[in-house]
Amino acid sequence: MNTIARLKTDMITWRHHIHAHPETAFEETNTTKFIIEKLQSFGITELYTDFAPTGVVGIIKGNQDGRWIALRADIDALDIIEENKIEYCSTIHGKMHACGHDGHTAMLLGTAKYLAEHRDFAGTVVVIFQPAEENEGGGRVMVENGLFDRFPIEAVYGIHNQPNMQLNHFYITHGAIMASYDVFEIKITGLGAHAAAPHLGKDSILIAAQIVTGLQSIVSRNTDPLSSLVVSVTQIHSGDTWNVLPQQAVIRGTVRTLNSQVQDMAETRIKQIATGIASTFEAKAEIDYQRRYPATINYQAQADIAITAAEKVVGQDRLIIDPLPSMGAEDFAFMLQKIPGVYVWLGAGEGANLHNPAYNFNDEVLTTGVEYFVEIVNQELGK
Ligand code: NI
Repeated sequence: MNTIARLKTDMITWRHHIHAHPETAFEETNTTKFIIEKLQSFGITELYTDFAPTGVVGIIKGNQDGRWIALRADIDALDIIEENKIEYCSTIHGKMHACGHDGHTAMLLGTAKYLAEHRDFAGTVVVIFQPAEENEGGGRVMVENGLFDRFPIEAVYGIHNQPNMQLNHFYITHGAIMASYDVFEIKITGLGAHAAAPHLGKDSILIAAQIVTGLQSIVSRNTDPLSSLVVSVTQIHSGDTWNVLPQQAVIRGTVRTLNSQVQDMAETRIKQIATGIASTFEAKAEIDYQRRYPATINYQAQADIAITAAEKVVGQDRLIIDPLPSMGAEDFAFMLQKIPGVYVWLGAGEGANLHNPAYNFNDEVLTTGVEYFVEIVNQELGK
């Protein structure tokens, strides 16, 4: 039987294979095929592929009956041209594993192999290989397709590697760890006119500029200084030539926060400011506000279990409890809206940041991740 340390070579091979063959949201067909082949070779035969267009869920029974828990990895890549010069560089131009989901997949495969060989626990461990974490909300799709209705899973655990956080240190938060992610579009309709006769029109560009300025007051004047909110305008589109005041302007942007009341407030204020300013200028604003990912909010009890497990693996001095959250977003949030759980960061040491074309997952965290997952199983389902 393998010890966790002896799984490292296998995991590196798997990780490099996945890295060389990146696939993006809901197109992870070969990645899923690879995962299924591996799981079957470990003797894990109860597999489900119907919770999302891609992705796979595996069931590992312990040698005694008991409760159900789940371990989750994301498997998708990004639309980025890889800059690394490595043997196992992306073979698909324009696609790249730049968020380390290749490593997360290898780590969960290693965990599955270890658990399937030992089965020294009371209950069932569900391994979730989730597609489309980036942009498309594969986590939401799996939840909506009944992942947590079909199986009586009581808690779900996830890990994300974090470059430029201390190598093989765990960062574990009680409560909010990642922000919500919403997008908005404001379509302003004024009245087009000759640039020489602005008084005959309603200038949509001037109105757009006032709205962008007005939106800045949501963070500075509507939000409690001790809360966190980002309102960013990231696009303005209007006009085609020099001598026309355009009839339409479009503003797009994003809203991020750690708390649903602040999120509600931001949505309301964006609508009020845009429609109010547009009507002041006798124009019209239509607002499309879309909630993409909720905030990722860890549960207290599972955060405590994670802390106990991580402490056993790396020791107390490599444990950072309640670090400041990130304003990035993560679709593990949808799973935590459905059942309890915890999402932790595993420090990957110095290197290029996530989503950078020079990023590469640090293989030195693979066994730490497996040890943590196995210890979670011991804590939750130990006999
Ligand atoms: Ni990621």
